[in-house]
Formats: sequence, C-alpha cells, structure tokens
Amino acid sequence: METVAVLVDSRAGRTRSAAVAIAEVSGVSVGDIKKPLPDAEILFLGSGMYGTGPGDYMNRLLEEGTFTGRKVALFATATYPRDGEKMLGNMAETLEKKGATIVGNTGSVRGKLIISRYLRLHPEDLEEFRNWAREIVGN
Ligand SMILES: Cc1cc2nc3c(=O)[nH]c(=O)nc-3n(C[C@H](O)[C@H](O)[C@H](O)COP(=O)(O)O)c2cc1C
Repeated sequence: METVAVLVDSRAGRTRSAAVAIAEVSGVSVGDIKKPLPDAEILFLGSGMYGTGPGDYMNRLLEEGTFTGRKVALFATATYPRDGEKMLGNMAETLEKKGATIVGNTGSVRGKLIISRYLRLHPEDLEEFRNWAREIVGN
C-alpha cells in the first residue's frame, strides 16, 4: 500500500474535520502543516477558502514544497461552490507546474469540495470525504 499523509489549513475546524475523516480511512493521523512536507507517496492537501484562496500555511506549503513525481489529492470546504472550485483549480495548477499529479478529481472539480453552511460539517459530508479518500487509497 502506498504511504499517505494528510495536511490541512483550517481556521474554524470544518476542513480539519474532513482531514480527520480522510486520515482515519487512510490509517494515518493528520500531519502538522507547519512542518516540512512529509515523504509520502499520496498527499491529501486541504484548506478552507478564505477570500483570495487557501490559508497562509497552505499557500506557503504550495510555494515551498517539493512535489515532483508526487500524487496529490485536494480537498476543501467553502461557502460558494464557484469559489471553492476556483481555489481547487488554482491549487491544482500550481502543483502541476511543480511536477505533481493530481488525483481524486470529482467531475470537472480538481478535488473534493463540500459546501459548508453551518458551524460544523454534517456526518454525511464527512462520509463523502471518507468515500472519496477510500477510492484514492484503495482501502
Ligand atoms: C476570512 C474568511 C473569508 C472567506 N471567504 C470566502 C470566500 O471568498 N468564498 C467562499 O466560498 N467562502 C469563504 N469563506 C467561508 C469558508 O471558506 C468556509 O466557512 C469554510 O468551511 C471554512 O473552513 P474552516 O472551518 O476549515 O476554516 C470565508 C471564511 C472566512 C473566515
């Protein structure tokens, strides 16, 4: 089985709860986004959508990380579908320029996006993230 790492930039905890669900089905814990990029074959990278794009930690990771030859699966939560999709598209483009292969596209969306309307994600939302991650890691 391929090695997996899950990193997330989440201010209010919704995207973090998605990360925890993804990590759970991947048999790992959520990593620390402030530390150097872990040496895993599949990277799950997630963020909330904060006006201009992902959070500062995620932006820094995208900028400074080495992604050549790595598989990356992107996930996000946002209020507006178009904003979330645009953010995932921009993240995918940046990563592809750095040599990553994006896996886990959902239709035309470059990753898994859930629209958050409340303070917490619903159990069904978390189940969607789990199912999406299971397909990627093959668990
Ligand atoms: C400062 C800030 C700016 C935001 N801007 C947008 C935005 O432009 N478009 C959007 O769809 N959602 C926006 N949101 C909503 C968040 O993306 C959404 O609540 C998300 O689920 C937050 O994830 P978190 O709980 O992991 O922090 C914004 C939230 C914050 C706090």
